[in-house]
Amino acid sequence: MDVIAFYDRHPINEAQILEVLRQRGRLPGRLAPEDLLELDQDHFGGLPAVEALARLAGISRGSRVLDVCAGLGGPARFLAWRLGSVVTGVDLNAGRVAAARRLSGLVGLEHATRFVRGDATALPLRDHAFDACVSQEAWLHVEDKAAVLAECRRVLRAGGRLAFTDWIAHPRLAERERARLREWMAATAVPTIDGYRALLARSGFVAIAAEDLSVPLRQILRERLQMFRSLRAATVARLGQAQYDAFDQLYAFFVGLVEDGKLGGGRFGATA
Ligand SMILES: C[S@@+](CC[C@H](N)C(=O)[O-])C[C@H]1O[C@@H](n2cnc3c(N)ncnc32)[C@H](O)[C@@H]1O
Repeated sequence: MDVIAFYDRHPINEAQILEVLRQRGRLPGRLAPEDLLELDQDHFGGLPAVEALARLAGISRGSRVLDVCAGLGGPARFLAWRLGSVVTGVDLNAGRVAAARRLSGLVGLEHATRFVRGDATALPLRDHAFDACVSQEAWLHVEDKAAVLAECRRVLRAGGRLAFTDWIAHPRLAERERARLREWMAATAVPTIDGYRALLARSGFVAIAAEDLSVPLRQILRERLQMFRSLRAATVARLGQAQYDAFDQLYAFFVGLVEDGKLGGGRFGATA
């Protein structure tokens, strides 16, 4: 599966967010950043996960932050609004970048957030321009993680912090399951937690911290699958039965791997 096509068809998207805001009676009308809370986060763990990452990255008022693979810009807007940082988001998908810009404009955060189309392995950004780099659940799509880490190190100032979450593989994840993740979810490469530690060290980062989040992820995913299924009628009405079934099958397979302890999540911090 091609990663751009995967996100072009993803069920978390701008149209769905705007529809929820209409249903809540917030649109048409003037929106505030609070109106988007939780709607625009495309990772597990929601806003507490962004806060944990911000702590790990040492982000505070005025920090120049880069969000690598920023998606719809939810984490970037939250960091700008709640912590007063100035955030640049980069994403490969042109539709995601355009949506991120529009959503920031809708809630008056267009001056604190900027979104650029680009590849995480070749960031279209100056050297040493950032105090912190963050990323959430995206590098699973990138084969060449050494290139992403080298780019993060290049754009960070000396002593700047990197903090990210990503999927991690556990030993029982079979090759055919990896192949299915690649084919269905564009999950190109999923390292082990020790694999990531070693990659960070080889890329020249120091003060490396790695935390296994697989157990809390299990509970989060169980609840998300239940919620997805509880919204079946509305989703079928919006996307059609075939797309609902395809996504349900995919989701159940993915959650099954996490339940079986084959796949999990990790949070990493390191200093450039
Ligand atoms: C699961 S979403 C996460 C979005 C965002 N980090 C969040 O938590 O809301 C993964 C994002 O990674 C982006 N992506 C995948 N490969 C990329 C690459 N090589 N360079 C930049 N962005 C990429 C996708 O387009 C998608 O928007």
